[in-house]
Amino acid sequence: MKSIIVYGSEYGATKRYAEHLSEMTGIECVNYKDAKDVEKYDKVVYLGALYAGGVTGIKKTVAKMTENQVLIVATVGLADPTDAENVQNIRNSLKNQIPAAFYNENKIFHLRGAIDYNKLGLKHKLMMSLLHSKVSKQPESEQNAETRAMLETYGKIVDFVDFNSLEAIKNVILSNN
Ligand SMILES: Cc1cc2nc3c(=O)[nH]c(=O)nc-3n(C[C@H](O)[C@H](O)[C@H](O)COP(=O)(O)O)c2cc1C
Repeated sequence: MKSIIVYGSEYGATKRYAEHLSEMTGIECVNYKDAKDVEKYDKVVYLGALYAGGVTGIKKTVAKMTENQVLIVATVGLADPTDAENVQNIRNSLKNQIPAAFYNENKIFHLRGAIDYNKLGLKHKLMMSLLHSKVSKQPESEQNAETRAMLETYGKIVDFVDFNSLEAIKNVILSNN
């Protein structure tokens, strides 16, 4: 089976995961902006950073795929990927970003990323600042994994990247279905 790893990353955390997964599996990895021949592969492993629930680059990539291909998805975000409500929110949003034929919960994973506020572009800094002033006024009972992660990391440099979490994805990639 021919496979390729494609990634969408703004600041590098998702790229680091993709490059490490490439080393673990021997499968080539490529930025979605440079992925021209996605339709040639049996399996497409897509790693995408989460921005306001959207998975960077995934729509453009699946638009090049046909239904006989298998799609494996891993999202990379700051909110806790072991929180059930967070996972449900990410998946509900993913359903609006990829065709139903590619949506298979056994092939969807969630990884934790990183953020360095010193490196954020102006647009992202502004988005986070607006979100922070809104969320910091909410009572704790109204907060969820996403808003908690935002409040805890706001203005900081944090790195939750954990390559051990790639092991489960590797097993699905190397399986025969
Ligand atoms: C404007 C903005 C929006 C974000 N939205 C989300 C989000 O919806 N869910 C989440 O878990 N993380 C969110 N994050 C955190 C990023 O997903 C996280 O920093 C990720 O590691 C970025 O990956 P990258 O370095 O590959 O771009 C957001 C970050 C920014 C700056």
